[in-house]
Amino acid sequence: MAGDQVKIFDTTLRDGEQAPGCSMTLREKLRVAKALADLQVDIIEAGFPAASPGDFDAVQAIAEENRGPIICGLARCNPEDIQKVHDAVKGAEKHRIHVFVATSAIHREHKLKMAKEEIIRSAVGAVKMARELCDDVEFSPEDASRTELAYLADVVTAAIEAGATTVNIPDTVGYTVPAEFDRLFHYLCDKVPGIDDITLSVHCHDDLGMAVANSLAAVAAGARQIECTINGIGERAGNCSLEEVVMALKTRAEFFDLATGVDSTRLYPTSRLVSGITGMHVPRNKAIVGENAFAHEAGIHQHGMLQHHSTYEIMRPDDVGISRSNLVLGKHSGRHAFRDRVRELGFDLDEFEINRAFQEFKKLADMKKDMYDGDIEALIMNVDSASGGPWIMQSLHFESGTQEDASATIVLLDESGKAQTVAATASGPVEASFSALEQATGVSLELRNFELRSATAGDDAQGEATVTVEYQGQSYRGQGTSIDIVEAASRAYLEVINRILRRRERRGDPAPVASDINRASI
Ligand code: KIV
Ligand code: ZN
Repeated sequence: MAGDQVKIFDTTLRDGEQAPGCSMTLREKLRVAKALADLQVDIIEAGFPAASPGDFDAVQAIAEENRGPIICGLARCNPEDIQKVHDAVKGAEKHRIHVFVATSAIHREHKLKMAKEEIIRSAVGAVKMARELCDDVEFSPEDASRTELAYLADVVTAAIEAGATTVNIPDTVGYTVPAEFDRLFHYLCDKVPGIDDITLSVHCHDDLGMAVANSLAAVAAGARQIECTINGIGERAGNCSLEEVVMALKTRAEFFDLATGVDSTRLYPTSRLVSGITGMHVPRNKAIVGENAFAHEAGIHQHGMLQHHSTYEIMRPDDVGISRSNLVLGKHSGRHAFRDRVRELGFDLDEFEINRAFQEFKKLADMKKDMYDGDIEALIMNVDSASGGPWIMQSLHFESGTQEDASATIVLLDESGKAQTVAATASGPVEASFSALEQATGVSLELRNFELRSATAGDDAQGEATVTVEYQGQSYRGQGTSIDIVEAASRAYLEVINRILRRRERRGDPAPVASDINRASI
């Protein structure tokens, strides 16, 4: 039986969402927050309320809708940020204010232009103010791993004296290595008075691929909270991956003698949910949740596995929520079985959404003989992105060949249900349908990346398209799925267009005017 408990602090919705192309809508954030609560993480860092009104609203909604985990918001060391976090999280069952300020010489000189003492005063003031509003206050000295050790100990001592209940040590730029981080944690444990009375936390980035290793070194040296994200998403190379660090502690419990409260059987569904929503694919060979993580190809390995799974397997797929055969439902499956599977996959749909998804499931089951989890996930993502509107794709027709230009004709329905038919030609069918979508909606995008992959196994697998586009200097990512890859690409493109239009409407910007150039309305 494992000894101490390590708290899992998930920052997918804050540090993870900050990564380029990973931004989520309010609805998507609520879905991820619900999945994190089901996963039984201890703390959800729901966002940075001062960053924008949208961030504030998302943190507030997550705080009000989720029970179980502590809901936390991030603030710089200034009264406005701290007040905003408090206003956003106060509706939660349990809440936390997380304040941070950079402490390394590089940040002091080049970013903050503040002296050491000034930074300590700012940290102390912020922690004191946060403590007046909330009993649970976390303090982070940003870029701690590149901060002079003695000064870091002074900052941490001052934060604890001011009332911080958790002190987090970030390796902000992913620079440290396990042996060095071990020394840093031991140093703080030796030098900082009162450190045993607070929770010591670790927050690692993966620039040198050591975020998980460094986080484990920190807990071995006394940290009792790990900050991490699902699939390791986050700034640059990402953050410590939640599923990897949790499974390392669980699988090597006899070494670490530590436990987490995470329900590991929810890891795989949560990973799929986050990759589906963000469009950040999980590499096939990624530990724990990659497609190949439990696959055995080499004959000698397969032979060993047949004798006993422990020959080549240190974890069971079921431990992380992967069923060996995920062939789940067929065209004769009923609504109840479908709804149960959707729930198991981590989606929380209301009756209306289930009914729509079930109709789509029946249509797809008529075309496709085997239905896998990936098909159901893809189908729900499609229904979800289409339901946001304002445009819905009613039909797509295209013609192409090796010796001629391609043409695409698309019928879109607007919010009132009125159909608009637009045709375009281009050198290929994907380009032609993108051009038709731009003409119909009046939104013109710069395509930066286009990826296509198979959502599931088999000859009749659905194609999953991901587009990354730029619009007015901002990057957006969209996903679409279909048995037809041109349709999948068009759905992904339309998803982004819809998101841009919804955002404009929220901000009260004028509606775009569909361009007449090259438009062949039929
Ligand atoms: O990486 C970092 O330093 C952070 C802090 C705000 C905790 O994300
Ligand atoms: Zn970070």
